[in-house]
Order: sequence, then C-alpha cells, then structure tokens
Amino acid sequence: MTIDISTATADDAAALAACAAITFPLACPPDSRPEDIRRHIETNLSAERFAALAGLPGHTILCLRDEGGIVGWSMIVLDQPTDADVLSALSISPVVELSKFYVHPDHHGRGLAAALMGATLELAAASGLPGVWLGVNQENARAIRFYTKHGFREVGTKRFRLGDRFEDDFILQQALPAAAAGAVSAA
Ligand SMILES: CC(C)(COP(=O)(O)OP(=O)(O)OC[C@H]1O[C@@H](n2cnc3c(N)ncnc32)[C@H](O)[C@@H]1OP(=O)(O)O)[C@@H](O)C(=O)NCCC(=O)NCCS
Repeated sequence: MTIDISTATADDAAALAACAAITFPLACPPDSRPEDIRRHIETNLSAERFAALAGLPGHTILCLRDEGGIVGWSMIVLDQPTDADVLSALSISPVVELSKFYVHPDHHGRGLAAALMGATLELAAASGLPGVWLGVNQENARAIRFYTKHGFREVGTKRFRLGDRFEDDFILQQALPAAAAGAVSAA
C-alpha cells in the first residue's frame, strides 16, 4: 500500500468531509445522541467548512492518503487557547493545538495513525512553539492509549459541548523539540 501525507487544499474539502462523517462518531461517547453528532458534522465538518479551513491562517490540515483517497486527517492550530480549564492545566506556553486527529476504521491498528502522528508532530515542532496540547473524550480509551504512546501526558480536564450536553475531556500535552533554525511556519 502506498501512503502519502500532505497538506490539504480546498480541492480536498469534499473527501475530507466524507472521511470526517465516518470518523467523528467514533470519537464520541456511546451515549451521545445521534442527532447531536449529525448536527456537529453538518455544522463543523462540512465540505464548505473544510474549504474555508484549508486557507485559514494558523490552521494546517494534513491528509493521510492511500490509493483510494483520504483515509485520515489531522489539524493543528496556532491560535492560543482561551478556555480557562485549558490555560490552568497547561504547563507549557505558547502551544500548538492538535485540534483534530482521525483515521478511517479500516486502517486502525495498522500503523497508519502512527505515521500521521509523526508528520503532525513534525509540523507542530516546525512552528517553533515549545509544546502541543489536545482534548480527548474521557471515554475514548483507544485514543487516550494512542496519544500516550506518542508522548502526550494528561495534565487536566475540560468540557466539550456536543448539542445541549457537555462531555468530559482530558487535556493532554507534550513538549516539542526546538525547531531547526529557519524552519517554516506551520501556517
Ligand atoms: C485514535 C486513532 C487515531 C488511533 O489509531 P489506531 O490505529 O487505532 O492506533 P494504534 O492501534 O496504534 O493504537 C491504539 C492503542 O489503543 C489500544 N486499544 C484499542 N482499543 C482499546 C480500548 N477499547 N481501550 C484501551 N485501549 C485500546 C490498542 O491496543 C493500541 O495500544 P497498543 O499499541 O499498546 O496495543 C484511531 O483509533 C481513530 O481514528 N479513532 C477514531 C477517531 C478518534 O477517536 N480520534 C481521536 C479524537 S480526540
């Protein structure tokens, strides 16, 4: 299988939305309401939204592609957190946010997520910022295990709004290696 990991453009928007519609529900707790999940996908993970995100300064989407198209994606954001729980939990500042990280279920447990994480952390480090953080649902044991394997450590908790309910997230962070001189901005 040939794998390619490269930055998304607006041309990837429809394929990203299709992949996101399959992978977002996998990150939600089992008791999430289907209509809340559907509304979140329609509002935040539409092709129009991806086309806008692909050109947004400070946001970079990486696409994991095989011969059939996009089978995973990640997004890093250079905007600094404003959530009080996140700010009080993090011991590193300023930080990159690992805002999204999803791999198609056909490819779980096969090392592709590790390849995407390697590329994503490289991109985060190239920003020159000293740390990276993320939020993950407390019931998402597989993702928590995966992130821990890749150097993240739990530093606190926060809440994530899905529909009219709040879900509980862990906040994870890790230090990034100092960027090489002349490293490009991750914008
Ligand atoms: C999170 C994700 C990217 C990880 O990719 P993956 O290919 O499944 O990752 P890996 O197989 O390398 O690692 C998963 C680890 O969790 C373990 N695991 C699997 N199911 C588990 C469970 N129910 N409870 C605890 N650990 C579990 C696996 O055994 C493995 O650990 P090991 O290598 O020590 O055996 C992928 O599962 C995914 O896209 N999930 C759906 C979307 C999602 O949740 N994204 C994160 C949003 S914050």
